[in-house]
Amino acid sequence: MKKLDYDLIVFGSGIAGFKAAIHASERDKNLRICIISKLHAMRSHSVSAEGGISGVLYPEVNKDSKELHAYDTVKGSDYLADQDAVELLAERAPSEIRYLDHIGVPWNRTDGGEVEERPFGGMSVPRTAFAADKTGFFIMRALYDHILENKNIDIYHEHFVTSISVEKKRFAGLTAINIGNGESVAFKGKAAIVATGGFSRIFKFTTTSYSTTGDGTALLFNAGFALKDMEFVQFHPTALVPSGILITEAARGEGGYLRNSKGERFMSRYAKSKMELAPRDIISRSIMTEIEKGRGFSSDEYGFEYINLDLRHIDSEKLSEKLPMIAEITKRMLKLDPSRDLIPVRPGAHFTMGGVHTDIDGRVLDSEGKAAGGIWAIGECASVSVHGANRLGSNSLSQCAIWGRIAGEEAAEYIRKGFGNTEKRRFMEHAENEEARLDKIMESSGKNNPYEIKAELQETMDSHFFVYRKEAVMKKGIKKITELRERFSDIYVKDRGRNYNTNLTNVLEIGNLLELASVTAEAALRRKESRGAHSVVEYPERNDAEWLKHTIISKDGKKIRISYIPVKILKWKPEPRIY
Ligand code: FUM
Repeated sequence: MKKLDYDLIVFGSGIAGFKAAIHASERDKNLRICIISKLHAMRSHSVSAEGGISGVLYPEVNKDSKELHAYDTVKGSDYLADQDAVELLAERAPSEIRYLDHIGVPWNRTDGGEVEERPFGGMSVPRTAFAADKTGFFIMRALYDHILENKNIDIYHEHFVTSISVEKKRFAGLTAINIGNGESVAFKGKAAIVATGGFSRIFKFTTTSYSTTGDGTALLFNAGFALKDMEFVQFHPTALVPSGILITEAARGEGGYLRNSKGERFMSRYAKSKMELAPRDIISRSIMTEIEKGRGFSSDEYGFEYINLDLRHIDSEKLSEKLPMIAEITKRMLKLDPSRDLIPVRPGAHFTMGGVHTDIDGRVLDSEGKAAGGIWAIGECASVSVHGANRLGSNSLSQCAIWGRIAGEEAAEYIRKGFGNTEKRRFMEHAENEEARLDKIMESSGKNNPYEIKAELQETMDSHFFVYRKEAVMKKGIKKITELRERFSDIYVKDRGRNYNTNLTNVLEIGNLLELASVTAEAALRRKESRGAHSVVEYPERNDAEWLKHTIISKDGKKIRISYIPVKILKWKPEPRIY
């Protein structure tokens, strides 16, 4: 087993993880920092972010304010967001966009050379900065280049983390497999920042990459920390049919229409003033209602019922300047040209609002609200909670940038003050046990095929926990997930080799997906109201009297324990959400 020792370990290599490493290093150039990624670090899911990052850059010109950004976010969240976190997001987002500008993100610019901002769903005015429709890729590239300038940051590409160890309520280390050669690696550390993204791959029809399996979320849950608001999964209205590839909301921000099979811009029925730029939960429900009422297109051609995105009226110069990737995708996948053809879309799982329960600084919490020493969770894997029951598009990149900085700086301070765990008496024993556990998994010769279990899990989530949820259907879904988890305890792993044994890492991912799907399903069944992205047919209304609260889930032996905590309501009392 390889043994490594760092001050700070960043687990995950998206925008949040990269920012955390950079800002910790800026605080202290002597910190020994590493980033661990199960992919090549530049291939993390943040590269797929398309439409932009929110932040008020031009309050006078756009008649905008940080307060309005915060209000839009709270209203978009269906009042489940913690308002202190939302105010922090609105306050800090502009300076993060400027920071990214300074390190070389090639923003689209106005004729005057200013960073351009575009309209986005649920935002009152244009406040989303963008780099065409490849914003995530360009931000990642700039951050990655910047990281390479820091001698004290090492990157471990293609290392799969298998456990997080905590001793006496303080972080001790992580264990990982070097995917390339199968070697076990024990990473000791004084502090860790977990930034492994969301877990939308519990669903089959999703805009997210195959890697979004919520590994850090599942490992922290298993290490005794709590999860929050797991029932809230965002379905992006415009996932391309049949692949699920994201067709950015910016397509509607730049003027695109949604049309049903009668050719109607049906959003006039559901969100008269915002139309195609209503928040995602509302548009996704509207699309599914149109389809259910027989005004969608049939599944004959693509295997899914769908509606159309219409960009034909948009000037072709604008399309190529602001949405070049949409044409690349539609031409390559479906031989469709957006300047001439309609684009078939339907809602697909896109973002998980739920995640690791943290305080406003990103410190991970247990179900009693107590923080462990030296562990932060940030970005999509965390529920801080800034998005509540429904995230507004482009607020996630600001969240990643802001909390990346906060956690990086906090972790550096924590280490500087000498709070880091230096004893770690049991860590090597933990790492050896972990190695033995993995060997055992690799030798599994049970009767069940793990890939079939994964496929059935994803189909179950699509059919039982989609945009509209029904109690009886959710109960059936939970039964099925329980059966799949039982079958998973008797699987076989075919590949027994050490080098690039992705069969083994896939099995570990499937274990994480099963765990997170189960928690999502249980939390969804218990929330007896409709709020944001969680819409239950039997309880069509938001119920603030009983349900204005966060769901907290923790492990109690093999069972889960669910409790609730209040939402932080400051300036904005819940109101009807009309768009
Ligand atoms: O549609 C999009 O470009 C997605 C943006 C987001 O999820 O923030």
